[in-house]
Formats: sequence, C-alpha cells, structure tokens
Amino acid sequence: MIGLITGLFGWRPAIAPVNLSAPVYSQETIERGRTLAAAGDCFVCHTAPGGARGTGGRAMETPFGTVFTTNLTPDAGTGLGSWSFSAFQRAMREGLSRDGKHLYPAFPYTAFAKTSDDDLQALYAYLMSQPAVRAETPKAQMRFPFNLRPLMAGWNALHLDAQPYQADRTQSIEWNRGAYLVQGLGHCGACHTPRDATGAEKTGGAFLSGAMIDGWEAPALTTVSKAAVPWDADAFYRYLRHGHSPRHGSAGGPMSEVVGELQALPDEDIRAMATYLASFNAPSPAPAELDAVARQAVARAAQSQSTLLGPAQRMFETACAACHHDGDGPTVLGLNRPLALSSKLSSDRPDNLIRTILEGVREPATREIGFMQGFGDVLSDTQIAELATYLRARYAPQAPAWTDLPSHVARVRQKPGH
Ligand code: HEC
Ligand code: HEC
Ligand code: HEC
Repeated sequence: MIGLITGLFGWRPAIAPVNLSAPVYSQETIERGRTLAAAGDCFVCHTAPGGARGTGGRAMETPFGTVFTTNLTPDAGTGLGSWSFSAFQRAMREGLSRDGKHLYPAFPYTAFAKTSDDDLQALYAYLMSQPAVRAETPKAQMRFPFNLRPLMAGWNALHLDAQPYQADRTQSIEWNRGAYLVQGLGHCGACHTPRDATGAEKTGGAFLSGAMIDGWEAPALTTVSKAAVPWDADAFYRYLRHGHSPRHGSAGGPMSEVVGELQALPDEDIRAMATYLASFNAPSPAPAELDAVARQAVARAAQSQSTLLGPAQRMFETACAACHHDGDGPTVLGLNRPLALSSKLSSDRPDNLIRTILEGVREPATREIGFMQGFGDVLSDTQIAELATYLRARYAPQAPAWTDLPSHVARVRQKPGH
C-alpha cells in the first residue's frame, strides 16, 4: 500500500548529504569536465543576467510557468556542496534533486541522460572544483497543476529514457560521437525539435525539424530546412566552429551563446557533430555545386532588386545598405555575408529577421561576426513590416511573401528575446 501511494505520488528518496573534503579528481579529469560543461551550456543557463557564474537564478519561461535555474557551485547550503556523485548522476539521468524532488524538463535532463558515467564523473569533478558561492534559488512559479512536482513522475514514465547513449553499430565511430554529443550534452533538440502539448520533444522525423525557443526560431537542421543552400557537413562544421559559414547566415540569438560555448570543444568533436547532422540531410552535391547554388541565390536577389523600387527600398539604402551589400562594396563591419544566404530571410517565419532588426546583434558568437545596433527605437512597427516585406521579396524571391507582417512585428516586439 505504501509502495502504491508513493508510486502514485512520484515519491523518491533523498540521497544523504555528504561532506566533501579534499578533491580526489585529477587535473586532467577536471579539465575534461570543463569542456563537457561547455558542450552542455551549463553556465549559460545557470547564470542570471549580471549574476555570478554558475549561481543560477536565471528565469526560464515555459508554457507551464516560470522556473529558475539553480546554484551549481559547491556551496553546501544553496548549491551542490553536499551532493554525492550518485545524487548528481541521478539528477542528470532521472531529473531528481538530491532531496528526491522532481525537476522540470526545462532542465534538459532527458538529453543529458545520454551522457556516459565517465563523462558525468568529469563534469561533477569540474563543478566541485569551482569556487563555492552562496545563492538561494528563487522558487518556481508554475501554474496549477504543473506546480505539483510529483506529477513529473508520470511525465518521465512517458518521455524519459534514462539509459546512456547506445552506439549504433551500423554507423561510423565519428557519426556515433556526433550523435552522442548532439543528442546528449549538446541538447540541440531542446531548441531545434518541436514539442507536443505536454512539453515533450516530438520523436522520429520531428527530431531537429525546427521549433520556437525564447522568441527565436531554431530552424530545421534536416531535409525540411528552408536554407537557400543545402547544408552539408562542412557547412555545419564551420557554422558550429566559427558561428558562420560561407554559404549561410551567421549565428544570432540563443545560438550565439551555444556557439560561444562550443569554442571549448576540440575540432574532432565539432566535426563529429557535423557528420551526424549531415546524415539528416540529402547526400550533398560537391562543394563547387553548392557554391554555384549560393551564387545563384545572390544573383536572384540582385535581379529582384530592380523591380522593388519604393519607400522600403529607400529605407534599406539609408539604414542598412552601408553594411549590407552583396559583396559589391567595402565591408564596413563584420562579415557582410549576402542576406540572400541567411535562413532568417528564407524561413517560413519572419521572427528571426524581425528580431534581428529590432534588437540588432549585440553579442556576436565569435570575433569575426560584427556588432549591429538594434533599430527597435528608431523604426516603427509599420516601417519594420515594410522593410521585412521588401527584404523577403528581394532576398528570398523564390519563397512566398510573409503575410500579416504588422501583427508579427507587434508580437515579436512585445516579448523581447533573451
Ligand atoms: C536550458 C537550460 C539549462 C541547461 C543548459 C542546464 N540546466 Fe541545469 N537546470 C536548469 C533548470 C531550469 C533547473 C531547475 C529545474 C527545477 O527547478 O525543476 C536545473 C537544475 C539542475 C540541477 C538540479 C539542482 C538542484 O538543486 O536540484 C543540476 C544538478 C543541474 N541543473 C546541472 C546541470 C549541468 C551539469 C548542466 C550542463 C551539463 C546543466 N544543468 C545545464 C536548466 C538548465
Ligand atoms: C538555446 C537554444 C538552442 C540550442 C541549445 C541549440 N540551438 Fe542551434 N539555433 C538556435 C537558434 C535560435 C538558431 C537561429 C539563429 C540565427 O539564425 O541567428 C539556431 C541556428 C542553428 C543552425 C543554423 C540553421 C540555419 O539554417 O541557419 C545550426 C546549424 C544549429 N543551430 C545547430 C545546432 C546544434 C548542432 C546544436 C547543439 C550542439 C544547437 N544548434 C543547439 C537555438 C539553439
Ligand atoms: C553599421 C553596420 C550595420 C547596419 C547599418 C545594419 N547592419 Fe545588419 N548586421 C551588421 C552586422 C555586423 C551583422 C552580423 C553579421 C555580420 O558580421 O555580417 C548584421 C546582421 C544582420 C542580419 C543577420 C544576418 C545573418 O547572417 O543571418 C540581418 C537580417 C540584418 N543584419 C539586417 C539589417 C537591416 C534590415 C538593417 C537596416 C535596418 C541593418 N541590418 C543594418 C551590421 C549592420
């Protein structure tokens, strides 16, 4: 009977607190843990704007309410200071806090569960080697019934596979390494895979097929991608390594933080992820053919330009063209990749374009990418809608015009991205 009740209410035991004394991990393990923490963006989520690194308190909005990230520093009272490795391992695999409380999947433990024990040890070693900082985590503000954490037991029963990654023997070692990182610590699906009504990532063909996250569109990375030039392994590699690649746009919004963290990973890991991602796309033509597709996209934009004279075109010439031309003028700032190659222009959704115009590019992923001011204060919703209509017609003439742009601009402006 007790078993039944505790089972029903999702009760899980606490793991006894421990007193951590002298560090027992080698410098090498700690260093490996640092790289793994970067792969998992631990310190992106677990740092509040302006807050001390890793002390948590960053608010995460979900459709079910707001949850705050926790203090990952080894402070005994408010952080992981009294967590044994088993408690940490259980949190990463099963989404349970040390005291047995269920955690919300805004913490991507459904992905982190794929991580090997060895890597979890290294992560733990690294976290425990950081300076302890006292910082209380604000209480989650979830709506009823989602404020009842034990309900997550039922959700986990449906959606959590707590087994570490199992290699696919039919694929290469490199592909498997990429799958391990993309599905596991990289939690790429947390942003790039659409979710169902319960907040679980859809499976099968929906994996990495594109989704909205924090007001940004995380585009499809598979055959359903709307990119002007098909993605291949080399382009994925360059984008993840440098935040941009010659045949595509640059990484902005939340993806710039991801790319920033990926800088810590060795080249082999980035290449492995690229190899894995490429396998979700059609076998790519030779690089020379892809370059030809890119040149055609730029040429198409130049042709459509001549048919689009009017106020929006003048606005573009005045406000944007000094920095954005198609390789036919001096590069004032940054890369100045032709806009015809950016998924922000060719996507079904105008969100990333509108957000970039409103908010600019304030924290470029890497140094080659330039800074751009936001135009939210100087352009009205109507002007931005006109500009977006023009940009779509000029740079993605192959795609249908976006409809309802004024209301999209108002919607995007209302909810700032992070
Ligand atoms: C996408 C944002 C995000 C990322 C990335 C993330 N976390 Fe978290 N994490 C959270 C949130 C939100 C919570 C709190 C969940 C809750 O309160 O239910 C949390 C909770 C935790 C907890 C439980 C702490 C406690 O006191 O119960 C641990 C442990 C943890 N994260 C470790 C990590 C590690 C290690 C990484 C990197 C590999 C990481 N997290 C990356 C969002 C994130
Ligand atoms: C926190 C959310 C988030 C996570 C995690 C994330 N992405 Fe992204 N990703 C985005 C967003 C948003 C964009 C669009 C950025 C832009 O266009 O400026 C993007 C863009 C991309 C693009 C370019 C797509 C295109 O057509 O332009 C690639 C490739 C990509 N991500 C790969 C990955 C991989 C691989 C991972 C895991 C290692 C990952 N992303 C993790 C949010 C995320
Ligand atoms: C002072 C220079 C400057 C001006 C003016 C400017 N931008 Fe930018 N813009 C940049 C830089 C730098 C980037 C980051 C990418 C890069 O380095 O080329 C960028 C990025 C973008 C992107 C994302 C491109 C991608 O790779 O996905 C879009 C879209 C964009 N700008 C549109 C505009 C529009 C529309 C205007 C006018 C309202 C404008 N920009 C004005 C410098 C500028």
